[in-house]
Amino acid sequence: MAMEAITLFLPDLAATAELGRQLGRKAKNGDVILLYGGLGVGKTTLTQAIAAGLEVSPDQYVSSPSFALLHEYRGRLPLFHLDCYRLAGEEDMEGAGLAEYIGRTGLTVIEWPERLGSLRPAERLDIFLKIDKESGRICRMEAWGND
Ligand SMILES: Nc1ncnc2c1ncn2[C@@H]1O[C@H](COP(=O)(O)OP(=O)(O)OP(=O)(O)O)[C@@H](O)[C@H]1O
Ligand SMILES: [Mg+2]
Repeated sequence: MAMEAITLFLPDLAATAELGRQLGRKAKNGDVILLYGGLGVGKTTLTQAIAAGLEVSPDQYVSSPSFALLHEYRGRLPLFHLDCYRLAGEEDMEGAGLAEYIGRTGLTVIEWPERLGSLRPAERLDIFLKIDKESGRICRMEAWGND
């Protein structure tokens, strides 16, 4: 499995929003983006911008799906936004029927993907976010795939 990595500094919300929009614009059917990082690091914020880049209409509000586990939005491609925070592990994920959404026709974005264990797809974009002062974010991206 080949991996390409890049680390970016996102100095403010606008930089995070621009990255998300670009990811949304470039997304292809079946793509999976995994968002790592602690509480409040900006995973949902980045997902909102990805949704904008996918042309999800602003009236379909992208909130954190922590309670629903899964939100689905209609854009240029379907967007499946999963949040695994409340899951205990991969059995729980399977029990909740979420596993079948990963890599579906559309773009899948997953917060707290550590909880997926072996359900993490081999081909994916891993994004690791870290807080740097109030509004700065360090963003490491690793693209895992066969090409
Ligand atoms: N550069 C930045 N990028 C992203 N978010 C930022 C940035 N600067 C400040 N913020 C703020 O940080 C907060 C991030 O909250 P968000 O809900 O996106 O985090 P999260 O990683 O999804 O948390 P959780 O694990 O609880 O779901 C927001 O209030 C956002 O406005
Ligand atoms: Mg969140």
